[in-house]
Amino acid sequence: MASKQRIKKDFISTQDWDKEEVDKLLAITKDVKLNPKKYRNSLDGKSICMFFYNPSTRTRNSTQVAAFQLGMQPTFNSIKDSWIGYQSESVKDTAIVLARYYDVIGIRLFPNSVNWKYKEGNRILREYAKWSEKPIINFEDDQFHPLQALTDIFTIQEKKKETKGKKIVISWAYHPKPLPLSVPNSTLLITTRYGMDVTLAHPKNFELDDDIVNLAKKNSEISGGTLTFSDNIKEAYSDADVVYVKSWGSRKYYGDGKNEKPLRLPFRDDWRIKEEYLDYTNSDSIFMHCLPIRRNVVADDSVVDGKHSIVYDQAENRLNTVKALLYYLLKENDLEK
Ligand code: CP
Repeated sequence: MASKQRIKKDFISTQDWDKEEVDKLLAITKDVKLNPKKYRNSLDGKSICMFFYNPSTRTRNSTQVAAFQLGMQPTFNSIKDSWIGYQSESVKDTAIVLARYYDVIGIRLFPNSVNWKYKEGNRILREYAKWSEKPIINFEDDQFHPLQALTDIFTIQEKKKETKGKKIVISWAYHPKPLPLSVPNSTLLITTRYGMDVTLAHPKNFELDDDIVNLAKKNSEISGGTLTFSDNIKEAYSDADVVYVKSWGSRKYYGDGKNEKPLRLPFRDDWRIKEEYLDYTNSDSIFMHCLPIRRNVVADDSVVDGKHSIVYDQAENRLNTVKALLYYLLKENDLEK
């Protein structure tokens, strides 16, 4: 007789999942937001391990509240309080043991935890996934931030009703320190996958990873969207429906703030996002940023607090997307075997 068995799925990049499954996550997110009571305690008795190598405000708190609302037990773990943080235990042993206790494990692992060796954080996440019998959720590594990407495309759908044919400018902005590539990588991949007309805007020397850009090009071909590149703010922002601002580091001096400084300093003023730049966009355009943001360094107060800004609605949706993901991973993802 056929028995129902859950298939373990990890959520390390949205690009790992079929488009139909991402669509399904977005549909559940919409339902979770519209009908929160329907999901209350729906994962009663389940548990989530929240494992952080690095700080977080939104990811940590939205997951903790989501788990509570779904009836789950969330447990916060810092690597400072775990043997792995002292090189006293392997990823293999940590993953196998935690999976014996918990139903799902979320991990945040930034580039500074792997000495800025690009993709090493993602490799470690995938090693956890290899050994864990329970799903691994990427709470942001050095290559991807899939929960943010899911939230962002959901928020764009919510605000703009559709994604196909809408212009988004993914805009670099000045920041005094080199920041990870995970958010721009993930934003580029999800928006090209959903048929948007994407302009990636950044000054010279701040190109994204070639592999990610090539994947994004393929996404655009499949989805019927477009992908263009610009180092000209006026040209890039013109007629945009969505302005997505994020600072990121140069690949040439990845994580090396001292050597990178001369590359970024010339752009400190022009690439601080100002209210007048939004005048180039459509009058009903939305301004997005994943937060945290350094106000008046990355973008002016008049932008972050301005009429185009939806940054708090975007942050609020992190709660709905993580609830949907947990529900999907632990409840919906049953297949007849
Ligand atoms: N956007 C985001 O992931 O925020 P936190 O770093 O605060 O989790």
